[in-house]
Amino acid sequence: MSTIIRTEQLSHIYSQGTVFEQAAIRNVNLNIEKGEFVGVIGHTGSGKSTLIQHLNGLLRPTSGKVYIGGEDIWAKPKEIRRFRFQVGLVFQYPEYQLFEDTVYKDISFGPRNMGLSEEEIDRRVRQAAAFVELKEATLQKSPFELSGGQKRRVAIAGVIAMSPDVLILDEPTAGLDPRGRDRILGEIKEYHQQQKATVLLVSHSMEDIARYASKVLVMNQAQVFLYDTVEAVFSRGSEMESMGLNIPQITRICRQLAERGIPISPQTYTVESAKDQILGILQKRGVK
Ligand SMILES: Nc1ncnc2c1ncn2[C@@H]1O[C@H](COP(=O)(O)OP(=O)(O)OP(=O)(O)O)[C@@H](O)[C@H]1O
Ligand SMILES: [Mg+2]
Repeated sequence: MSTIIRTEQLSHIYSQGTVFEQAAIRNVNLNIEKGEFVGVIGHTGSGKSTLIQHLNGLLRPTSGKVYIGGEDIWAKPKEIRRFRFQVGLVFQYPEYQLFEDTVYKDISFGPRNMGLSEEEIDRRVRQAAAFVELKEATLQKSPFELSGGQKRRVAIAGVIAMSPDVLILDEPTAGLDPRGRDRILGEIKEYHQQQKATVLLVSHSMEDIARYASKVLVMNQAQVFLYDTVEAVFSRGSEMESMGLNIPQITRICRQLAERGIPISPQTYTVESAKDQILGILQKRGVK
């Protein structure tokens, strides 16, 4: 696999030189391979949003480098837009950034900026809307007539319509009910698979990370604490807990069972896997 995102000693200091100076990320070295689904976690203020806003050039590093597909994105600052199209970013609470009078216009904003033909813009808007399961009729509505979950899906469609190689979402399901949440996560997963895209998902839900991610990036106090497989990260449960982070409930239960001598892996992180192991144990013991 090849590297799609790389950062080198990436640092960002807000309000440098004032009394409000704040190092939000410090010396971050990352290597994310193409096609990965990365869950990004970390306590509040650990630097998650600051980090991801560097990956499409929305924020400029105070020091250090960002490479996308091997290219230093700030080598030619005038060309930074190119990376904004290649790396799509959905902000936290993106519904506050819907500003057009119709859903159609909102979704077409990105593709229009790319300088595509009217025909191609139309094709992309309809395709992206269908992807997030918005009805044709919704396209002519005002975004303000929509439900919270629908608005969120409009914002995601606007980014997907640019067909980015990398899709980054900052807590896309915050504040939604479980149905709205599952729907959006399902759509992100589908985009990941269909487009062979690289996905970074910032989330506070360890259950969601365990279910969808292949790798986990743990931020702690402006630095990368860990970047590893889901299994490896959740097996370090006590360290995670000491940083104020949870591990999936099922991992905690399996760890407690393992401590009591039951032959189950303490690194289990999906309910499915726990079920299979428990059924296996019961079968061995002759329980039907
Ligand atoms: N625009 C800004 N100006 C000044 N400081 C900022 C700004 N944005 C963030 N910070 C500070 O930078 C640090 C990292 O913030 P960031 O928003 O990246 O964290 P986060 O991990 O995304 O947190 P959360 O989980 O609450 O979204 C925090 O101390 C925050 O107060
Ligand atoms: Mg944030």
